[in-house]
This record gives sequence, structure tokens and C-alpha cells, in this order.
Amino acid sequence: MGEILKPLKGDFHLTDYQSVYETFNWKDVSLFNKQTVNAAYETIDRHVEEGYGEKIALHYVNQDKREDLTFKEVQRQVNHYVHILRSNGVKKGDRVFIFLPKNPACYIAILATIRIGAIAGPLFEGFMEEAIKERINDCKANVLITDQTLGERIKTENIPTVATILYQETIEKAPIVEDHYVEWMDPGEGMLIHYTSGSTGQPKGVLHAHRAVTHHAQSGKWVLDVHDEDVYWCTSHPGWVTGSVYGLFAPWLNRATIVIQGGRFNAKLWYQIIEDLGVSILYSAPTAFRYLMAEGDLYKQYDLSSLRHILSVGEPLNPEVIYWAHRALQLRIHDTWWMTETGGHIIVNLPSEPIKPGSMGRPFPGIEVGILDEEGNELPRGEIGQLAVKTTWPGLMKTIWNNDEKFRSYFPYKGWYISGDLATQDEDGYIFFQGRHDDMINSSGERIGPFEVESSLIEHPAVKEAGVIGKPDEIRGEIVKAFITLRSNVDETPELKESIRQHVKTRLAAHSAPREIEVINELPKTKISGKILRRELKQKEIERQAIDKS
Ligand code: PRX
Repeated sequence: MGEILKPLKGDFHLTDYQSVYETFNWKDVSLFNKQTVNAAYETIDRHVEEGYGEKIALHYVNQDKREDLTFKEVQRQVNHYVHILRSNGVKKGDRVFIFLPKNPACYIAILATIRIGAIAGPLFEGFMEEAIKERINDCKANVLITDQTLGERIKTENIPTVATILYQETIEKAPIVEDHYVEWMDPGEGMLIHYTSGSTGQPKGVLHAHRAVTHHAQSGKWVLDVHDEDVYWCTSHPGWVTGSVYGLFAPWLNRATIVIQGGRFNAKLWYQIIEDLGVSILYSAPTAFRYLMAEGDLYKQYDLSSLRHILSVGEPLNPEVIYWAHRALQLRIHDTWWMTETGGHIIVNLPSEPIKPGSMGRPFPGIEVGILDEEGNELPRGEIGQLAVKTTWPGLMKTIWNNDEKFRSYFPYKGWYISGDLATQDEDGYIFFQGRHDDMINSSGERIGPFEVESSLIEHPAVKEAGVIGKPDEIRGEIVKAFITLRSNVDETPELKESIRQHVKTRLAAHSAPREIEVINELPKTKISGKILRRELKQKEIERQAIDKS
């Protein structure tokens, strides 16, 4: 352990981190200098115009279904969606929410929305009624694109601003009419909104601007290291920022062939897809790698020789997983650190550079990272402090939708964006994650706000109060654990706990539902404001776990 892993052989876009880190300027990237831009045009249409229309843009696999589309065919479908949206009166600045499974239509609908200057709000397919309603209403969405199955989770009376609901099935049945319209945007105008959780309040709408494609394109080139011949697979749904930025924009801006896989994680299926499609770059989360590792020798049954490297994001990547992949698959896993709010990679491991297992990597060229104390002063190397990023960079969110105060709260010290994470940086510039500064929960790389879960729990008739924490877990990083007090005359039974769990699962999403519920007599609270002390609950839980283990 503690060993540095050298780069594997390859033809890399960026081969000398240090000199590029010192000299790189965003202004040298052609996309940065555009007076007007359209992210969707850059992602698809430009490639067709430059003669790459016949190149395969995507492989879609879902159970026994397989579909391959060229860039020209993707463009044709985007044009069709553009026609449908425009004939329904959608215009610049409107919010179009997209609630579809991980399928080509989801990607196409996002691009069509953006190409006409509207703001795309992709929603994770696992969201249930309350979670959807909350987001759509906060954003006052005008239009919703969904399909017959997911559409059943929506009650129109709950989303009064949505004037039009468009169904994928209906759009696909309509005769194709191609509308080539492109709305040319100021780079600072909005294109994409992702709702994300913090430790307080309901999820917030993080709005990204068209200019972010500069960041997407450059990190796609250097960190994903996609080349023309690559088959690139990011396993995240476009409702999460990883699925949109590194599932759609970054690879397609670099003209890669992408894989879209319908359905959930399954180790055999994943290995099979890599073999069948010749996947050369895989981007996923540590939980998935831990599952693969737990399957032991399973990988030996597949030909995985097409893989060049693997990327990881969303939660701490354990060194033992990196060593396993290196030994078993003869591949390096490159950790990346960023957030919904940062709009693109901030800390990375380039394929051409040594990696230190346990570290998230080094700052992306053109981006400066700092470790700050509570007053906002930079700390010396080796000390633990707040992980901060010097403002500004092209991917940084434009604002928090309708919540300027929240937006400003990310910038408490002049010139710095504060992430909410704690970290330390070593003498060589490598950064090591040390935890969160707040109560946010990270389960399988999914960011879960305790407040949203607590609010859902207390809607259950038996629950009086609730405090929700992330309990450390070997596979998932953390699991959601709820401490609750019950209303008088309610008895604690396994059936009751299951009904409480189901309540959250059917209203918010399966990943938000507490895996453990513990009934207690009283929740710890602050004396003055009566706020629930989640930190105390978590501390006790960790101490108990330590005792159980010893
Ligand atoms: O705590 C960090 C964790 O995920 C948070 C951001 O979550 P989200 O906005 O959902 O974005 C996830 C993917 C972009 C961060 O504040 N996180 C992200 N990457 C890592 C990580 N924790 C440890 N190591 C990482 N590589």
C-alpha cells in the first residue's frame, strides 16, 4: 500500500501535467472566445457539418434491444424534437423538464430543448411523485417531456405551471418534421438545471450556462481522454450531473461514440456490455467498482481487453479498489472530484500521470484549488481544511434558481467557492478527501439531503420527529439511517418501520428511503433553536459501530 501507480502505455491528449498546469489559459480554447454559442449545436450539429455525420454517435442497449445511431441520425431526431417543442410554443428561457428513462430520447430531448434556447431540467428516472413535484414547482417549469410509464407518477393538478405534457410515444409516432432552428446564445445564458441536495432545506436548482461547454470539452479531452475511435460509457442517468456533463456533453463534444444502457447495475451484464461493444473508457462510481470487486474472478469470463482506463466520481474511492483493478484488470481507475455546482471536473487524475491511491488527484489545469481555514486563509500543505476553488472557471454554476441568497452562500470569502468538503493537499499537489463539513449524505455516490428525507418521514402519520444521517457502510460508502420518535399511542413494530420506509420510497425515491430506522425516545437538539443535532446522532452511531466491530 502507499505505492504510486505509473501510467499505463497509451496515446494521451495531455502528457505533461506540470507545464500545462502552469501555462494553460481558458482563453486559448476556441470555444471560450465565442461571442454567441449554443451547447447543443456544438455537441451534435457541428460534427455533422464537419463531415462526421456517418460516425456512430451512440449504442443503446436495453435487455435484448440494441440500437445504434449515427451523428446524422441523432441530429435528425433532435430536429424532430425541436419541431415538436417549437410548435408547442416553447421559446428561449422556458423550462422544459425531462423525465425519461436512460434511453436515447432522454438525451435527444435535452439537446432539442437547449438548441432552442430553453433550459433543460432532466429528472432522475427513480424519482417519485413528491420529488418530481418539488423540483418542477420550484423551477416553474412550462413543459414536461415524459413517457407513459413514468408519467403515471405525475398528477397534473400538482404542477400548475406546466402547460404542456409531451409523451415520448406520441412524439415518436408523429411524422418526422425536421426543424433546424438554433437559438444563438450569450455564453452566460442558462441551458441546464440540476436539482441537488444540501444539508438544509429542499433541493436547490443549480443552473448552468452555455459557456460550461468549454469546461466539458476540455476535460473530456484531457481527463476522459477520448479519441475518435473510443467507445465511451458513463453509467450515470442524465438526471444527475455526471450523466449529463460526462454522459452526454463531454464525450459528444469530443465526437466519441457513447453507450447508453437502460436498466440498473448488474455485474455480469456490465462485463458483457464492455465485451460486446468494445468499451474503451468506463466512467462510474466507487460503489459499482466495489460490487465488481466483490464478484471476485467473474471478470475472467469476459474479454475486457478493449478497456483503456476507468474513471470514478461521487464518493471516496478506496485504495484497495484501485489496487484490485490494477492487479486483476490491469487497468488504472482515475478518481475525479467535482460537484453539481462546479459544472465540471475540478480535481483529476490524468491518464498520463502517476496516481496516488487514496488521493482524488490534482487540480485541473486552469483551475486553482485551496485548502482554507475558518477565516478563509489558505492553510499550509498537509493541513486539513475547507476544500475551496478560486473563482471563476467556465463550468461554475450561473446561479441557484430563484435563490440568490443560497448562491451567495457558496462564496463566503472573496475570490473563493466553498465546496462543503474537507480535504488536505500534499507536497506534490495531490488532494485527499477528508469528509463533509455539513450533514449531507453520500450513499452509493448519490447526494441525499437529510432535510428532504426528514420532511418526508414526518408526513407519515406515526412519526413525530425525525433526524436522518449517513451511516458508514462498506459497499455503499454510507446508508441512510433515520432516528425517529413516534406519536403517542403508536407501537414500534417491524411492519410499522416497513410502512415508514415505503412511505419515503414511494414519495421521494428508492435511494432516499432509510435502510435503517431506529425508534428513540427523544432526539438530541440544540438548546436555543431546537434544531436536531444530526452530528450527535452520527457520532453515537459511529461509536456503536466501532464497538460492534471490536
Ligand atoms: O462530497 C463530495 C462528493 O460528492 C459531492 C458532490 O455531489 P454531487 O453534486 O452529487 O456530484 C457528484 C458528482 C459530480 C462532493 O461535495 N464527491 C464527489 N466526488 C468525490 C466525492 N467524494 C470523494 N471523492 C470524490 N472523487
